[in-house]
Amino acid sequence: MSAVLSGRGLRHAYGATPVLDDVDLALEPGEVVALLGPSGSGKSTLLHLLAGLLRPDGGQVWLAGERLDTLSERRRSDLRLRRMGFVFQLGDLVPELTIAENVELPLRLTGVRATAARARALAMLDRLGVADHAHKRVSEVSGGQAQRGAVARALVHRPPVVLADEPTGSLDTTTGELVLEALVDAAAAQGTAVLLVTHELRVASWADRDVLLRDGRVVGGAGARAVAGTTAVGA
Ligand SMILES: Nc1ncnc2c1ncn2[C@@H]1O[C@H](COP(=O)(O)OP(=O)(O)OP(=O)(O)O)[C@@H](O)[C@H]1O
Ligand SMILES: [Mg+2]
Repeated sequence: MSAVLSGRGLRHAYGATPVLDDVDLALEPGEVVALLGPSGSGKSTLLHLLAGLLRPDGGQVWLAGERLDTLSERRRSDLRLRRMGFVFQLGDLVPELTIAENVELPLRLTGVRATAARARALAMLDRLGVADHAHKRVSEVSGGQAQRGAVARALVHRPPVVLADEPTGSLDTTTGELVLEALVDAAAAQGTAVLLVTHELRVASWADRDVLLRDGRVVGGAGARAVAGTTAVGA
């Protein structure tokens, strides 16, 4: 099967500080991949490159058959809106809007009518256990409630790719499992490819496979979780 999202030979530095050096990562439709690695190893940077939010210094990003990294900003945004859901590590819901309005955004921006968008947003929020907070503004909910709103927004338009940067980071075990179930169900039911950043082996155990970011490179396959367990996670 061919990858729906791939990064090939990706390099990135912030000024003189290299972070990623020749990273290859490909996601097949329907697979859930955990991205592990110590704090500061470049996990968020890699997600931003794969989402076209940051341009690599070298290498290529392909999303749904199109080369993303060389597109104009406008076309990158458009492709991202249609093909991707993104959960930021620090959350980025629009503070002036309610949680429900935030979740409706990707639907409204792609032409779904208001009533249908509202119904789909509320159904997704209900699944994640935050329907009761749907009509509050972002500033009026807890960090974990906002985080579930961000996950709902990434999933609501059923994109072929979801990139989630520690989507359970502010959640207790039970609400974290609601989020993981929603991500894994999207993969199983819709063939969504999910890349999930986490520090926790308990969270990584929901994935089909793991990749580990270490010394600017991705180490994959069997053993990544074992290596992460002994040296990287929690570092
Ligand atoms: N905008 C930036 N300018 C300069 N350096 C940055 C910038 N963003 C990140 N860095 C640095 O790049 C490295 C990788 O950061 P990144 O956020 O990708 O790590 P991470 O693996 O996501 O870490 P964490 O697990 O703590 O979220 C870190 O050393 C960080 O300090
Ligand atoms: Mg990060």
